[in-house]
Amino acid sequence: MPKLVVFSGAGLSAESGLETFRDADGLWAKYDPMDVCNYQNWEQNFDLVHHFYNERRKELAKVQPNAMHRYLAKIEHKWRDRIEVIHLTQNVDDLLERAGATNIVHLHGKLTELVCPKCGYIETIGYIAFDKSPCPKCGNPKVKPQIVFFYEQAPEYERLHKIFGELEKEDCVLVVGTSGRVVNISSIITFVENFGIEIGLKILNNLEASESIDESLFDKIFYTKASEAIVEIDRILREFWKL
Ligand code: APR
Repeated sequence: MPKLVVFSGAGLSAESGLETFRDADGLWAKYDPMDVCNYQNWEQNFDLVHHFYNERRKELAKVQPNAMHRYLAKIEHKWRDRIEVIHLTQNVDDLLERAGATNIVHLHGKLTELVCPKCGYIETIGYIAFDKSPCPKCGNPKVKPQIVFFYEQAPEYERLHKIFGELEKEDCVLVVGTSGRVVNISSIITFVENFGIEIGLKILNNLEASESIDESLFDKIFYTKASEAIVEIDRILREFWKL
């Protein structure tokens, strides 16, 4: 069955009202990621780290999925007999789930969860602030947001590479709302294509060009808000798969 692999970043959730990281008004313009998202010092910065993620959970509770989240969830279900939609998202929000999408890999973890680095216990916290209680399983006081920090292992990258390594010319890759600065999607595409993988259709949707994304790799490019690209993306996908 042909696949639609949607590789997404913070720009997918921007129109829901969640801040991106590197846009002018993004999170990294307000916080230093090396203070709040750094595996090497998060325990020393324990209160600041949890304050940062408590604030983001509070924001997440106030927002809703946007038109692109809803469109992607809709086609996953509508085309389920013909197309397998796979989400490889860098986003830690739950907006794709809330929109009804199901086949989702959170490459950088989930804001609604905590993890105990000692025993691996994962606790669902939803949108509330962490109350500094110790790990319910092993009592470790240093419980961590279940988010992949800089300099931390990202176990789900293995799945990302496996999925890209199995793409075929009947498949489509849709890149939405990412600068490509952390997961270098251009080099992943180039790498698999150099190994003879032929991805039938590659679409890019961002607000503007990113120096980390090689435009020449893509068949179609939309530098516009995701919500404004839906109609054209839908037409291209239907044409590609004769839906
Ligand atoms: N529609 C489409 N694209 C948008 C929109 C929108 N409404 N708003 C912003 N964008 C695009 C911007 O053009 C930019 O290319 O979203 C991208 C956001 O880039 P970043 O802020 O760098 O976010 P992202 O690529 O997800 O960051 C990757 O960096 O800090 C880490 O772990 C964090 O997962 C994150 C990773």
